Amino acid sequence: MSIKNKSYGHFDDANYEYVITSPFTPTPWINYLGNDGFHGLISNTAGGYCFYRDPKFRRLTRYRYNNVPVDTGGRYYYLKTDDDMWSASGRPVETELDSFECRHGMGYSRFLSRKGGISSELTCFVPLGETAEVHKLTVTNEGTSSKELSLFSYLEWCLWNAEDDGANFQRNLSTGEVEVEGSTLFHKTEYRERRNHYSFFHVNQSITGYDTDRESFLGPYRGVHKPLAVTNGQSTNSVAHGWSPIASHHINMKLAPGETRELMFVLGYVEVAPAEKWESKGIINKQPAQALIAKFDTTEKVNSALDELHTYWHTLLNKCHVSTPDDRFNRALNIWNQYQNMVTFNLSRSASFYESGIGRGMGFRDSNQDTIGFAHMVPEKVRERILDLSATQKADGSAYHQYQPLTKKGNSAIGGNFNDDPMWMVFSTCNYIKETGDFSILDEQVPFDNDDTTKAPHFEHLKRAFDHVINNLGPHKLPLIGRADWNDCLNLNCFSTDPNESFQTTQRGKSDIAESLMIAGQFVAYGQEFIALCKQLNKDELAADCQLHVDAMIQAVNEHGWDGDWFLRAYNALGDKVGSHENEEGKIFIESQGFCVMAGIGLDDGKAAKALRSVEKHLATEHGVMLQQPAYSEYDKYLGEISSYPPGYKENAGIFCHNNPWIVIAEAMLGNGDKSYDYFTRITPSFLQDIQDLRKSEPYVYSQMVAGRDAATPGQAKNSWLTGTAAWCYYAASHYILGIQPDYDGLSLSPCLPKSWPEVKIHREYRGAQYDITLSNPKGLSTGIYKLTVDGEVQIGNTINFERFNASHKVELTLEKA
Ligand code: GLC
Ligand code: GLC
Repeated sequence: MSIKNKSYGHFDDANYEYVITSPFTPTPWINYLGNDGFHGLISNTAGGYCFYRDPKFRRLTRYRYNNVPVDTGGRYYYLKTDDDMWSASGRPVETELDSFECRHGMGYSRFLSRKGGISSELTCFVPLGETAEVHKLTVTNEGTSSKELSLFSYLEWCLWNAEDDGANFQRNLSTGEVEVEGSTLFHKTEYRERRNHYSFFHVNQSITGYDTDRESFLGPYRGVHKPLAVTNGQSTNSVAHGWSPIASHHINMKLAPGETRELMFVLGYVEVAPAEKWESKGIINKQPAQALIAKFDTTEKVNSALDELHTYWHTLLNKCHVSTPDDRFNRALNIWNQYQNMVTFNLSRSASFYESGIGRGMGFRDSNQDTIGFAHMVPEKVRERILDLSATQKADGSAYHQYQPLTKKGNSAIGGNFNDDPMWMVFSTCNYIKETGDFSILDEQVPFDNDDTTKAPHFEHLKRAFDHVINNLGPHKLPLIGRADWNDCLNLNCFSTDPNESFQTTQRGKSDIAESLMIAGQFVAYGQEFIALCKQLNKDELAADCQLHVDAMIQAVNEHGWDGDWFLRAYNALGDKVGSHENEEGKIFIESQGFCVMAGIGLDDGKAAKALRSVEKHLATEHGVMLQQPAYSEYDKYLGEISSYPPGYKENAGIFCHNNPWIVIAEAMLGNGDKSYDYFTRITPSFLQDIQDLRKSEPYVYSQMVAGRDAATPGQAKNSWLTGTAAWCYYAASHYILGIQPDYDGLSLSPCLPKSWPEVKIHREYRGAQYDITLSNPKGLSTGIYKLTVDGEVQIGNTINFERFNASHKVELTLEKA
């Protein structure tokens, strides 16, 4: 049976939703709840978990990664009649429903089920600014006779430290503690000692019974698909002491024909001041929980919190709204890409269904890049993030590769000395200032390595990032790669032959030889950004000095980084070329082509154009542009992890989506609008609806990787949601295809359109002003000479000066000739 074109859902643009029509998607298709510190991950069958700020240290509910069946653990609601039992979210109970739908929306997920004349609607969301998930459940008797029904809620508590929770059973099976009061089930493990926080699960009506001990609820050797308490139609009022604490409410109801019952559940987290921890000996202070519960104890309160959430998202997404002739492009830019940008900004690469939330905190490189898709949405948060990152920078300009969100301190758990790290902060900062005009960020006093005795203005941190590159040049005057550059798996100084050591934290080479052309391109690109920033600040001497270094780097690339038809990728620790026609495998890589062209190297002498033709010839496939070719067929200790993957996967010639938009941008810089757009469409989910079954991962967000030509199933996507692809694709489409480029003086317009688009309309909020922009393309061009008018007045150049035009304006840009 061919299932290649099977569809599991569709977009509902009017509601900003993706509608999933089956509980059996090829992988769990998830959504994220919450933006302000409290986050939930929720699959299309309500699987997943939630945490406060840090998915390692403050995890409320338990989730079993890579379990069988997949997606085990979640917020489950069981419905039970005399004849049947089923789940309001389609799973984990195996009963097939008469109808099922999951609607993932902006910050909420809704599950619609129908079985034997009973329908239910479950809406899960995190109210703005709150530390709780609210679950609104309505149950309706659609039949003609009255029905008796038992409802059971269920979730399993994680004992806070998610890593310890999954490893340290000699302790954990003894520590679990709960309290029950009325309809609220409290989880207070470790509260007796060093914690000043607890969580709770509440429902706004009186309950028939409850369970807080897992085994009592599930029954021995049974799973969540068939809990004994549900089968029996009666909970056991168990109180957990150690073992595995859970929270389950039991409510009996009798529904007349047509009758609906509404229940508001609150799964919350609260902190208590140390002096007020206890109500009486051993009894926790429940006031903070009661205050939180009181905000959501009626249908009206919950509905108005949901309305606020809708308004918030509509307002946010409307800051940049585009209308092009292609609905798929509009849908990506207006809804899903921006939504994913918020999620990647919030969580970096820490917690998804593929990132376990215990291994990686906030990445330095990743988080800086994530800001470029988000600065126009919530600039205040970007400011804070950049300064947090800056505070983890070391005094020599290098960076910790990650920091823990709870402490905001850098750590070396996943290595350090990735020599591309420093310059990303120059990029994020310049992009932020161009968006907001907020130069004051540069004056903020920021410590190095979180040591308050070493504070310096943020501008000085940028300068040290720049200096770090020029202080670490190799034999060809190209940047030393260190542990690795953007490509975590190009470990040129590792030489590992021991399967028990990590490629990222092992180093044997002295790291004074291996050089990176990706960092060279990055340094030229963001070095020029730094120079432009210096000029804005009238630091002309510094600008001139930096220019010498940038020019020297361009020269080094031209002399030692050009392979004849494309840019080299690196020199390894033996001084041998990587990414050259002289190599048998790994002859050409995407990163150096993308970064050298984005830096403008070779635009004037044909190298850039030639490099891009080589990309097209050797790396492009229908599913996107592969990372390198030919794939490495053998492990090579002088290359590291990249050669450890089977051909076609991940960094070994997979389509690593993150760097595809670099080629989109590079083509646009050369004026090739059709090519640029074509590359964009090959990896953007809204264009790929008819291959859902092949791709497997969520058809509304980007995945990190798509299997390349050498893989068993080219086109199969993996590791969805938390990827730099999101911010970069948005940036490529908005800044380069549509050409909306915030600059120090104002909004600059330099579109590079597909020739078939006669007109594009854009609404853009910028530094408090509203611009309604029409791009007219009557002659079917991509780019060329423009005529710009603002409110009918012809402008010189293509920048809308923010000082002159700072209210609501009508902007028209016409592409007049090529
Ligand atoms: C655990 C430890 C053991 C220790 C015992 C008592 O079993 O593994 O080393 O002696 O606890 O604390
Ligand atoms: C992962 C990392 C990112 C890196 C990329 C390529 O996505 O999060 O930092 O650049 O892999 O190796």
